Amino acid sequence: MIYKKHPKAVKNAPKKKSQKIVSVLRGFRDILPEESYAWNYIRETTRSILSDYGYGYIETPIVEYTSLYKRTTGEHTDIVSKEMFTFDDMSGDSVSLRPEFTPGVARAYIEKGMINRTQPVKLFTFGPVFRYDRPQAGRFRQFHQLNIEILGDASPCSDAEIIFLSYLLCKKFGIDPNIQVNSLGSVESREEYIKILKEYYKPKRRLLCDECKTRLNKNPLRLLDCKEQTCKDITIEVPQLIDYLDEESKQHFVKVLEHLDEAQVPYELNPYIVRGLDYYNRTAFEIYVTKPVVDDQEESKSDNPQQGAIGGGGRFDGLIEMIGGRATSAVGMAFGIERVIEASEKLKAKNAKNEKIDVFLARLGEGVTKHALPLFERLRDAGISVRANFSKDGLKQQLEIADKIGVVYTVILGQKELLDGTIIIRDMENGIQEVVDLSKIEEELKKRLKR
Ligand code: HAM
Repeated sequence: MIYKKHPKAVKNAPKKKSQKIVSVLRGFRDILPEESYAWNYIRETTRSILSDYGYGYIETPIVEYTSLYKRTTGEHTDIVSKEMFTFDDMSGDSVSLRPEFTPGVARAYIEKGMINRTQPVKLFTFGPVFRYDRPQAGRFRQFHQLNIEILGDASPCSDAEIIFLSYLLCKKFGIDPNIQVNSLGSVESREEYIKILKEYYKPKRRLLCDECKTRLNKNPLRLLDCKEQTCKDITIEVPQLIDYLDEESKQHFVKVLEHLDEAQVPYELNPYIVRGLDYYNRTAFEIYVTKPVVDDQEESKSDNPQQGAIGGGGRFDGLIEMIGGRATSAVGMAFGIERVIEASEKLKAKNAKNEKIDVFLARLGEGVTKHALPLFERLRDAGISVRANFSKDGLKQQLEIADKIGVVYTVILGQKELLDGTIIIRDMENGIQEVVDLSKIEEELKKRLKR
């Protein structure tokens, strides 16, 4: 194994013209090792809790036919009309990077015949999603979602389970969530309500923002959660969707709330929650952070729901039929992971805390290096956290690195010790060195580390 570059290899390398650095795309970001503790914690906590609750992990492709999202998320939604990364593949098919998980999970449910499994099928997934949004704080073009779905169950219990799990996960993430719930009723009752909405807004059309003028024709429900002050002022007196719910949806909603009360999940009713995706019916909810995560001076995130929702979801009983499946009731939610981390001091603290390393493995002299990797693996296998730097040969340099890492002991494998079957343990605090039996190094270190 070669750890060092031959000096001539660098000297004789042809000189390259200095190149302009190719930067990362706007709205995309790298996740560096020092940020990874929070990400790993979220993945591990989620996997453990959701598998206890009977959810199976699924991964679906990042690229799907564009028609999947047009038919489900909705052609006139912001996501599909202006935010998808869409392109023609080599065969001329229009494909898109997934802007959300739900349609892909539903497609897999149909295609893989999951309807024939014991219902409901509970699934969760984690990964990147893509929306060509205007990048700003908490808004990215590539971001990550934790997505949870229950497919094949119409009972209000499932709506409550999804909201309960969202609450539980927030608590595990160190977030005090503010959960806002609403019911969107059935598709039919909503159509009736949309007519009433249009009648209400039409005389006030010229006062609406440009976007809402378009929404009035294409997606009138979205007027309810517009963030422009003029639109908000007009919306204050709007007839409420909850008053137009069909009887069954009303009963369903009451039961969901009863289950939440029973499970002691705190929530607020918010008649303006309509969600930005077309496929929802009945329960819809969004999750905000109770405590503002920005300066008191600035607008708090909970005052600015669209920017600040860390998660959202609802029931989507019609989606599976929209893409050719049998009528299947379903409910689910997704967290935006970047926003979850940003909202949680607990998760940020996980990144700030440096990993504690016990031992540094230093080598000294010709022919020793080849013994270093097997020894490294022996120590690691014994549960000792160990570091080494195989590109540095000088003991002084290696001890400096060990010092920087802040290890408790450095073990020094030298030529002489190797011949004697021994190794040196150096206490990094007082510099005292002891020679011990190489075959017993794991035990010796554990004794000193009090393991
Ligand atoms: P969504 O509300 O569109 O729902 O997205 C879920 C979460 O993703 C949001 O609450 C937010 O935290 C995060 N998010 C959205 N856009 C961005 C962005 N540009 N940058 C950073 N984070 C963002 C869905 O996607 C549904 N599929 C959820 C669902 C699952 N409904 C039923 N099942």
